Amino acid sequence: MDPRPGIIKERLKSIKQTIAVSGGKGGIGKSVTSTVLSLVLADAGYKTGLLDLDFCGASTQTILGAKNTFPKEENGAVPITINGVKFMSITCFTQETATPMRGTDITNAITELLAITLWGDLDFLVIDMPPGLGDTLLDTINLMKSNFLVMTTPSKTTVEIAKKHIEVLRQSNAQIIGVLENMSRGEPSASRELAEKFDIPFIGQINFDPKLEDAVGNAEKLLETRFAKEIKSRVAKTLKSL
Ligand SMILES: Nc1ncnc2c1ncn2[C@@H]1O[C@H](COP(=O)(O)OP(=O)(O)OP(=O)(O)O)[C@@H](O)[C@H]1O
Ligand SMILES: [Mg+2]
Repeated sequence: MDPRPGIIKERLKSIKQTIAVSGGKGGIGKSVTSTVLSLVLADAGYKTGLLDLDFCGASTQTILGAKNTFPKEENGAVPITINGVKFMSITCFTQETATPMRGTDITNAITELLAITLWGDLDFLVIDMPPGLGDTLLDTINLMKSNFLVMTTPSKTTVEIAKKHIEVLRQSNAQIIGVLENMSRGEPSASRELAEKFDIPFIGQINFDPKLEDAVGNAEKLLETRFAKEIKSRVAKTLKSL
């Protein structure tokens, strides 16, 4: 018998709320949103963690500009803190090395990472999810009681994949916080219709911020972007009222 699910339950006990930033489609802003959301929550005084579960395409360390991330060993792995955010990613152990993985390896790595990480007391643990409806999504549902923030863009293909994503979450009885549209063009959107169809809150629209790329790699600068302000006013407010 694998003892780790029991250990994970114990480890996650002191986390008030877990938010998985997902959506199914690649390249829609899950990583920048999860990273900036964690910075915004920490900046507002909440005890916040950021967990990167995109093992094959981890990018939150680049967005944060995280260096020397190897965790301290103290009967488990103590995450390093960046701008008030406790940060954990497979890259904390592998650094620059690529980590291609098959399904069972992914499940094993997620289970291990969750079992060893000592988050301590947290108000929020934000999770950056990989694209796709595969193993990581199912493992996150099974191993953690996450609330899912489903991201979309105005693109029809993104909305179609988000619909399937919501269906999988619903079938698994996972909690859905709402639908958030990124790279919005400010028009009435299919994302809102999608949320209404499933009777899920529509959190709002985040605009394309041409200055965001300049701030990538610098947590302080990220907090000053229009993108961060919109994440704060749309998403962080919703989370606090949950
Ligand atoms: N609102 C925005 N304004 C400007 N640039 C954005 C915005 N949202 C995302 N981007 C940029 O789009 C690119 C893709 O974003 P990101 O890596 O967060 O997507 P992702 O959904 O995590 O992708 P993947 O599925 O590959 O992990 C990045 O270069 C990011 O900086
Ligand atoms: Mg990503």
